[in-house]
Amino acid sequence: MKSPYKILFVCLGNICRSPAAEIVCRAAMKAAGLGERVCVDSCGTASYHVGSKPDSRMLAALKRAGYEYGEHRARQLRGTDGRECDLIIPQDSENERDVLTALSGAEEKVAPMKRWFPEGERANEVPDPYYGGTEDFDEVVRLLERSMPQLVAEVARRLSE
Ligand code: 4NP
Repeated sequence: MKSPYKILFVCLGNICRSPAAEIVCRAAMKAAGLGERVCVDSCGTASYHVGSKPDSRMLAALKRAGYEYGEHRARQLRGTDGRECDLIIPQDSENERDVLTALSGAEEKVAPMKRWFPEGERANEVPDPYYGGTEDFDEVVRLLERSMPQLVAEVARRLSE
């Protein structure tokens, strides 16, 4: 059996957006029957929160949307991620710039989350909810959910090539 296709979501702290993207993506892949073929992970470009659980406000937003979160602890992006992952997805433009700097040589694997936003989406990146309120956390989850059908379709296409 082929090794799983590895997707890595990246944000700044790995406590809000990328852990949310990880859980929403894992559920979408499972629902599409790709749960066994795709491995989903997340990390942050910064080290401030290494070892921490996801932000409690993000866990609450995920719970409101019907997701259960497991045992994730924040980790920082590693130089080896460029080699080990198939698709690396920064959540905003600053994350993208930092990933490209840290993982030179892996540019072809890096694509911003906005690439899978639905047509007509007003946001241009996944906005950082850290200094925001409940509605900002809920909107991150909804934006990720709106994007997953397009991402699932692309991964399914890549797996069938
Ligand atoms: P994340 O959110 O990058 O979506 O995990 C943030 C987490 C922490 C901070 C900023 C954004 N911070 O400044 O500590």
